[in-house]
Amino acid sequence: MVVLEDITYDALIYTLLALILMVCLSKRETLINMFWNMIQPPQSLDEYQRYERELRSAAAGYAQYSMLANYDLYRMRYKYGTMSRFHKNIGGALGYPKKLDTLAETIEANALITTQISAMFGKLSDKFSPTSKPSPQALERIRDVLKQFVREWSSEGASERQQTFPYIFAILEKIPIEARITTTVVVPGSGLGRLAWEIAQMGFPTLSNENSSYMNLAFRFLTSRTQTLQTNQHVIHPFSYWFSHQRSNSSLFREVRFPDVLPTLSPSSFLQHAETDFLNLEGEYDYVITHFFIDTSNNIISTIQKIHSLLKPGGTWINVGPLLWMTGAQSTMEMSLDEILQLSEMMGFTVHESSRQTIDSEYTRNELAMIRWIYEAEFWVATKGQD
Ligand SMILES: C[S@@+](CC[C@H](N)C(=O)[O-])C[C@H]1O[C@@H](n2cnc3c(N)ncnc32)[C@H](O)[C@@H]1O
Repeated sequence: MVVLEDITYDALIYTLLALILMVCLSKRETLINMFWNMIQPPQSLDEYQRYERELRSAAAGYAQYSMLANYDLYRMRYKYGTMSRFHKNIGGALGYPKKLDTLAETIEANALITTQISAMFGKLSDKFSPTSKPSPQALERIRDVLKQFVREWSSEGASERQQTFPYIFAILEKIPIEARITTTVVVPGSGLGRLAWEIAQMGFPTLSNENSSYMNLAFRFLTSRTQTLQTNQHVIHPFSYWFSHQRSNSSLFREVRFPDVLPTLSPSSFLQHAETDFLNLEGEYDYVITHFFIDTSNNIISTIQKIHSLLKPGGTWINVGPLLWMTGAQSTMEMSLDEILQLSEMMGFTVHESSRQTIDSEYTRNELAMIRWIYEAEFWVATKGQD
């Protein structure tokens, strides 16, 4: 009888578990969204639905990357075709048609990654259609993401990261190891999350934050245990679309592998990620670290106000970056460095003069190209007053 009771009890538990599993499987989207919600701050239903639409549009862009990129290639082939037979013979002798064929091959190689990103999202969203119309900026956004993989997660990007990351680490390294577990950091506009990940690796509970649906889908792909399983697993040709400033075709078409280290994200890891507008973040942190971020603000005053409100009294803001305003596009005020420093003081920060430095730095460069774009990025450390 006792045995029978045990069996009945076990059977009940197993039936219950099976039922829960069935419900979960039938609500796959809800279940997986629950995981992402765990690391997202609360949002209104409207905001959530708007963001879901943005994700679907970005995922459609990723699905159609090959087609979008091939439009450019068709134009290039067409232009070449308009030349005289004599000039085409010379072009042929130089291997130009073959060069266009190689571009086609690199597009297809990149598309292997972009379709995986899209398919991964498709598994989560019943409403997603890979053939729906992507945004007009889709191709540009995806090309930016491919170069961002290089900047943040390849060995080729290491020297670019080295230009600025050590200045931030030098400040954080002063905090004793045992105190780090209670020292919280937020990194807004985190792109593909490398800086935030490095800080979490140092032992700080860190929140990365990004609102671009293109970046966030790529970040999910990068940190997914089913998509990214080993270092240097993924191969892309991030520079092949831009024939300008190239010394050779081999440097133009070269492959870059990523990730150079394996990032994974779990609810228990020191790194959490919030897919939302930075202005929606809540809570109080010890450090806010803005890295190539503040000039992407729609409203620089709201941004600095928010940085201030996210800090505990006495908390620290570290900034590194240029002032590249998207003139006439999104920024409501385009301030000079002097104005920003003055604004920061007005908002209640003390900007430490002794911390200030100008750092020559690059952003998603092609290290083999015949062009250099150097930012004189400004670095400063500021503290919030105690009251
Ligand atoms: C120039 S990128 C810098 C990325 C990364 N920090 C780096 O240094 O490589 C700026 C990032 O901020 C993000 N961003 C801009 N406005 C934002 C906002 N209001 N909330 C969250 N992220 C934002 C952009 O999508 C972009 O990925």
